[in-house]
Amino acid sequence: MSEAFAGSPVDPDDLSSNPSSNEAFQEVVQRRVSRRGVLRTGGMVAAAGFLGAGTAAGVAHAAGGTSGQAVAAAGASDRGRRGLLGFKAVAPSAADTLTVPDGYTAQVLIPWGTPIRAGGPAWKKDASNTAAEQAQQIGFNHDGMHYFPTSRGGDSGLLVLNHEYVDTTLLYKDGGAAVTQEKVDKALHAHGVSVVKIERDRRRGWRLVDSRYNRRVHGNTPMTFSGPVKPGHPEIAAKGPVKGTLNNCSSGFTPWGTYVTCEENWNSYFGTDQAGWTPDTEQKRYGLQASSAPYNWHKADPRFDIAANPKEANRFGWVVEIDPFDPKSTPVKRTALGRVKHEGATFTESRGRVVAYTGDDQDGEYVYKFVGGDSWRRLRARRQSPLDHGTLYVAKFNDDGTGTWLPLVFGTGPLTAANGWKDQADVLLRTRTAADTVGATKLDRPEWVAVHPHNKDVYLTLTNGVGNGGAVNPRKPNPYGHIVRWRERHGDNTALTFEWDIFALGGDPAYDPSVKLGPDNIFGSPDGLGFDRSGRLWIETDISNSSQNLASKGYDNIGNNQLLAADPKTGEIRRFLVGPRGAEITGWTIAPDQRSMFVNVQHPGESTAAFGTPTPENPRAVSNWPEYDAAGRPRPATVVIRRKDGGVIGT
Ligand code: FEO
Ligand code: CA
Ligand code: CA
Ligand code: CA
Repeated sequence: MSEAFAGSPVDPDDLSSNPSSNEAFQEVVQRRVSRRGVLRTGGMVAAAGFLGAGTAAGVAHAAGGTSGQAVAAAGASDRGRRGLLGFKAVAPSAADTLTVPDGYTAQVLIPWGTPIRAGGPAWKKDASNTAAEQAQQIGFNHDGMHYFPTSRGGDSGLLVLNHEYVDTTLLYKDGGAAVTQEKVDKALHAHGVSVVKIERDRRRGWRLVDSRYNRRVHGNTPMTFSGPVKPGHPEIAAKGPVKGTLNNCSSGFTPWGTYVTCEENWNSYFGTDQAGWTPDTEQKRYGLQASSAPYNWHKADPRFDIAANPKEANRFGWVVEIDPFDPKSTPVKRTALGRVKHEGATFTESRGRVVAYTGDDQDGEYVYKFVGGDSWRRLRARRQSPLDHGTLYVAKFNDDGTGTWLPLVFGTGPLTAANGWKDQADVLLRTRTAADTVGATKLDRPEWVAVHPHNKDVYLTLTNGVGNGGAVNPRKPNPYGHIVRWRERHGDNTALTFEWDIFALGGDPAYDPSVKLGPDNIFGSPDGLGFDRSGRLWIETDISNSSQNLASKGYDNIGNNQLLAADPKTGEIRRFLVGPRGAEITGWTIAPDQRSMFVNVQHPGESTAAFGTPTPENPRAVSNWPEYDAAGRPRPATVVIRRKDGGVIGT
């Protein structure tokens, strides 16, 4: 979610709600950097870390005589090695268009409001569709996504995607005027997940096709709980049945073919007008407050009144598993993965066990790892969920380039009855406080995680943050963000120690001379992240609309949000796509043949300081992508990218 703007909730991401004195990542890096020195080339920076072992790709030619320093690889130069990137970089742009490299095409697919079944209600460009109609249409603000191929080669499959939040100005005909139950329900139905069958036709390209799998999961869909916080647990005993998932940011997919959707800034939907209500310590830790502007759902729907129905908020902040191949299945909140503001959940496996990485996206929060307690195949053979049996850890980054995973287990370390912890369910319901207690390392807004398909290195975007001062890298403040990576001990993702390094720093050398990026790759606020099978790293950006294209924020040369590709071996980064005004680029996924790539264009046309603020009378003030209809409005959408010659993307 981006920062505060007219039609959507005040985004708490930028503001810390972590009162603990846990050490911030900047302090750790600052010390390492000053102690051991850093050599930066081609937009990359590396302090001594796992690269020092010379095992990581990119190290072989990198040290360049700087003995004693482990150094990241070169920039644009291949240095005798053919890199992974073969396209011509796209230039930064502030235009209201979507641009891809020469030789590529971009096709708009399933914009907000598209009926998910044949004969379903058509989208109305004046935003007059009802709540009941919205429940049969693609939701708003597409975010995390995964493509599950169902055919050989992948030209047919299920596309499953999140809908993170709504912009009241664009969702409703009357914009943010007085809230009603009908408007709350329309918003609830615009959140959640869409499951749609899609196919590629050689002549017409990709299209949505009717299928029994096509389904909407939204804020009113019946849900259940599993893991240590079970159905009937008193802390989730709110009024009414368990239903709904909200603020579905990034996502993930499991080795057994299910999708997970992650609940991020769920706190923003709760509020109260009850005089004198104040949040308790735990509610405050998660950012709950009396105001829920601009949504104000609690004014029409008592479900979201935090004073009258406080346990409802405990039903959110989870990782939710959905089986897209069983359209009748009930989504399950998998509580063993903790309750935070989950950005996403990225799965890998090691020694037969499932491993899931998940960032808690708020300034000064942590990154977590769930490790299965047994082989996931064995658990499933016993009809147990691999996501209900395992251990949740939180990361501590040490000064010397090593790191540790600290268990969040009742009875372990300080998480004892003597210290006021009741049981494992209590630890998970209060995951943030548990992580504070064990001494996790604060991070600059941890967003997506991607695991390298070959060497299993783990990459994490830290989108931006206040930082803790200092002129060297990482910055204080850190308006441009960076990407950190680590290698688990012996390359085993279940290991409890790791060595870490910084892969790339965002920014613009015109404002920060330490940034080694140029016209082909200046970027800021990295967010979405994904690896293709060849090991190309795809980086999506989410510069907030209060900074986008503004010189006062050092963002005027970077242009609109974008998608870049990186070669982890050479360190080269190259801009691949630039989005329209007001939008972030997110939801990266790719067909197995790597010839069709899907990304989401989220919140085009949202209020953007550089361009203006939409109104019900003029919803097109910032953008009119993708249709440019003089009487229409901007629509979040998926975009499918292909090479005109049908070749592998990025080469
Ligand atoms: Fe929903 Fe952290 O982006
Ligand atoms: Ca966002
Ligand atoms: Ca994000
Ligand atoms: Ca973001």
